[in-house]
Amino acid sequence: MSDVEKTEFQLPPEYAGAGRAEDAPVNPQATPQEQDGESTLRPRSLVEFIGQPKVRGQLDLVLTGAKRRGVTPDHVLLSGPPGLGKTTMAMIIAQEMGASLRMTSGPALERAGDLAAMLSNLMEGDVLFIDEIHRIARPAEEMLYMAMEDFRIDVIVGKGPGATSIPLELPSFTLVGATTRSGMLTGPLRDRFGFTAQMEFYDVEDLTRVVTRTAKILGISIEADAAVEIASRSRGTPRIANRLLRRVRDYAEVESDGVVDLAAAKEALRIFDVDEMGLDRLDRAVLTALIKGHGGGPVGVNTLAVAVGEESATVEEVCEPYLVRAGMIARTGRGRVATAAAWRHLGLTPPEGSIGY
Ligand SMILES: Nc1ncnc2c1ncn2[C@@H]1O[C@H](COP(=O)(O)OP(=O)(O)OP(=O)(O)O)[C@@H](O)[C@H]1O
Ligand SMILES: [Mg+2]
Repeated sequence: MSDVEKTEFQLPPEYAGAGRAEDAPVNPQATPQEQDGESTLRPRSLVEFIGQPKVRGQLDLVLTGAKRRGVTPDHVLLSGPPGLGKTTMAMIIAQEMGASLRMTSGPALERAGDLAAMLSNLMEGDVLFIDEIHRIARPAEEMLYMAMEDFRIDVIVGKGPGATSIPLELPSFTLVGATTRSGMLTGPLRDRFGFTAQMEFYDVEDLTRVVTRTAKILGISIEADAAVEIASRSRGTPRIANRLLRRVRDYAEVESDGVVDLAAAKEALRIFDVDEMGLDRLDRAVLTALIKGHGGGPVGVNTLAVAVGEESATVEEVCEPYLVRAGMIARTGRGRVATAAAWRHLGLTPPEGSIGY
């Protein structure tokens, strides 16, 4: 790739090994231990769910309408970056409908038979949740089309010339799909969802409520300004807010009386390398590579990934969405460009004419 050749630029030594560890405080993906702990923190009803007013309002209509008519709701696609509450929302949909939830994921549905087994076990009204639905294998996806549309599938029995296809009627069910990459869904699959909910990053006010609620559940005493501080560094993501709260609680317990106040929050977040904007070392490394290595861009995302020693997928799916939303990076046809805010964030003077100058 031609744009990789330009990477003689060396990141300053403080960014050595900036690659984001799985347990980095601001990684929006859940670590395995967190997956276990999250169930106690998940809101269980639409009313309890904080933020996402648009999605909540729309879903409320879809679900209430279906309940009134006594039918199963339309299939729902939940789309958005990791950690914003897609799995939580899928559970709430089942809960609100008084239905049972069956869970699987795209990567688990490698063969059509895997999906057939799931589908043939469904009961009337069940909610089938397929996480990471963009990773479903092609044959399973094709079976899903018919299942979603006509509530039936053709099961192939036997192999070779003697194979026969047996039609199987399915009870009516609601498919809830979740994806972090809705752009990777095929048109036919997307079209079969009656309703697509686009989950957005949370604002500081909503995240403050998430932090306060989690603190209450976990029995952490936290002062109001400390909750705002944690919320404003959580990259619009409840999962990160919950994690930063736990890090700050650790600090407060070890260094003082366990009460999370503003000073404890600031100091703990400094120790864990999360800055006022919620950027960590990897984000700052990306901005540094873009600005000091490439004069602010435009530059390809692969080049940036090589410069910071991270996989391009991580830079593209994890760092970039938040840097874009924070107004630090702009995506252009020719590559990524640093905005004036990014220059200032690194303590530099932005060149005249840079975006947002
Ligand atoms: N609206 C909310 N209010 C309170 N807590 C929330 C909310 N949304 C998410 N959370 C918390 O954030 C954590 C992550 O949510 P969830 O697992 O639903 O995200 P996700 O979108 O499915 O992420 P992934 O893409 O990684 O699967 C959960 O522990 C949940 O408790
Ligand atoms: Mg999930």
